[in-house]
Amino acid sequence: MSGWHIGVIGGSGLYDPGALDDAQEIAVESPFGQPSGPITTGTLGGVKFTFIARHGAGHVLSPSHVNFRANIDVLKRAGVTDVLAISAIGSLREEMAPGSFVAVDQLIDRTVGGSGGRERSFFGDGIVAHVPLADPVCPRLSDLAAAAAEKAGATVHRGGTYVAIEGPQFSTRAESHLYRQWGADVIGMTAMPEARLAREAELPYALVGMVTDYDCWRDAAEDVDVADIVRVMGENADKARALLTELAAALPPERTASPIDTVLDTAIITPREKWS
Ligand code: ADE
Repeated sequence: MSGWHIGVIGGSGLYDPGALDDAQEIAVESPFGQPSGPITTGTLGGVKFTFIARHGAGHVLSPSHVNFRANIDVLKRAGVTDVLAISAIGSLREEMAPGSFVAVDQLIDRTVGGSGGRERSFFGDGIVAHVPLADPVCPRLSDLAAAAAEKAGATVHRGGTYVAIEGPQFSTRAESHLYRQWGADVIGMTAMPEARLAREAELPYALVGMVTDYDCWRDAAEDVDVADIVRVMGENADKARALLTELAAALPPERTASPIDTVLDTAIITPREKWS
């Protein structure tokens, strides 16, 4: 085996990874609570893959109710080395048309944390860590995933800033224009705190978004609705699965270390004698 073990988080419309060899569904427990569901683990072209459906089987979890900590934790426990999220996104740019894919490289977090909000750290209870997050996406995995998406036949935009909103409602028109002024290119409800937690778990994270709509900044006649998202995701889910096959084929034969693999070595500020 190559040392790669790709964790895949499937968003809206991608509820299964397609045919994995030796697939096994395993219910993994987490001290952080209930993950979105069991993981499916297997191989593609000899590479290990482990899949979790972010919104659960039958899409029962809203973005605010996904237990992002448990999902990242169970992927880590399964032995995943790198995490690829595949998500439905809205476009804030004319050129990022519905049907195209975007390999996101930056994130803006507008989700709600704190008490009652999304849990955004594994730390804070007697042990404090501040991980660097300047570049929340792993360029190596993102480039590999973008190339794989191209090979799978998708139109791919490399690079783009994703604004994560709390939802579950879509944005107001004023918000949509504001996010464009901020420099955001695409919009979704789930990449945060997922990317933060992957970093804390020392898992390189990449996100390939599948554009389903133009949100509501462009033309009132085509404001986003769920029917658009379901239709475009239906058209694209096979391409997303083909992306995984192409990715398996294109991974370097041996995984070399990433700086993210050891990011906690220098991130924990609480003196070791307090917690070890
Ligand atoms: N997911 C897909 N399209 C979206 C949009 N316009 N806003 C937020 N999340 C989305």
